[in-house]
Amino acid sequence: MGDVPRLEDLEREIGDLSGSRVLVRTDFNVPLSHDDHGKSTVTDDFRIRAALPTIEWLTERGAQVVTASHLGRPKGQEKPEFSMAPVRERLAELAPGVELLENLRFDPGETANDPEFVEELVDGIDAYVNDAFGASHRAHASIVGPPKRVPCAMGRLLETEVDVLLGLRDRPKHPFVAVLGGAKISDKLGVIEALLDRVDAIVIGGAMCFTFFAARGSSIGDSLHEPEMIETCAELLAKAERLGKVIHLPDDVVGTDSSGEFAQFGSRLPDGATGYDIGPGSAAAFSDVVMDARMVFWNGPMGMFEDSRFESGTRTIAQAMADTKAFTVVGGGDSAAALAQFHLDDEVDHVSTGGGASLELLETGDLPGLAALRSA
Ligand code: 3PG
Repeated sequence: MGDVPRLEDLEREIGDLSGSRVLVRTDFNVPLSHDDHGKSTVTDDFRIRAALPTIEWLTERGAQVVTASHLGRPKGQEKPEFSMAPVRERLAELAPGVELLENLRFDPGETANDPEFVEELVDGIDAYVNDAFGASHRAHASIVGPPKRVPCAMGRLLETEVDVLLGLRDRPKHPFVAVLGGAKISDKLGVIEALLDRVDAIVIGGAMCFTFFAARGSSIGDSLHEPEMIETCAELLAKAERLGKVIHLPDDVVGTDSSGEFAQFGSRLPDGATGYDIGPGSAAAFSDVVMDARMVFWNGPMGMFEDSRFESGTRTIAQAMADTKAFTVVGGGDSAAALAQFHLDDEVDHVSTGGGASLELLETGDLPGLAALRSA
């Protein structure tokens, strides 16, 4: 990362930042709630607060900060439900006087990386800062375009995220454990393969465990799984064994039986049963693995934690992440939301603002957004 310009490099390049207009690409893709009168409110401002160190660094030097972000996936159309207005309202409370452009994805040029849209973005702009870690795996106009046109740097959030995540990748402390959950193995295949070379053990929960169950021939009832990934899971299990790495799968599962009643199962589910969470025995065993580690990366809930009947596995892992002496990093998205739900977000070493971006950085060691700043 050493060759990616920092804010101090930008200041050196420009001289005095006072009075200059600085475009800061942020990831303000935040959850909103909508009331009956059509009013939307930000329900979690974590990503907005995470951009404040960069915004403050710039405003303290007299720069005029113009922030820009995407919100949701409006697909090139101006859809009112994706308006930045509620985000602008929250930003005004946290950083008065800072501008926020309208949703970048209202323009089809953003995702298409259209040079004309880049020109519009940098019009009247003296410098560009990328602080949108969560979007830096997208080669979109606002991420990769401006560095070719104006002096640029990474912001403090981007710098911290990259430092922490590349630290896991390149300077692991052993035992290094990855805890992976969520529904789809296909979303995480690349990172699982990359992590297998680096970690000592991978703990698998969430619906993705059922594809692994199927791969080893265990019955899964009606549980969510990806039939087209069964073969791949079998190969991963074999590769782990070859490398002497452990893949921990749950020994028990909770869910519903064929009549829809809450039920507990072993690692074989009968016909008509559906698993929604790891069971208490597995939660305790996984928690021990986390407690004994020196470094832990967690991405993806252990079950359907939004439903209180199936939150226990995710809660136990979140608590172990809080209690362990290991260096703990939580990938963004659902696992960060789970930590916040259990009020444990301050108890881990780093909560990433990026879901897909943190996985891609762990997998490949780089991101399009970083490459663009580096080659500017
Ligand atoms: C995210 O929420 O992970 C980022 O904001 C990226 O959003 P995207 O997946 O719609 O590009």
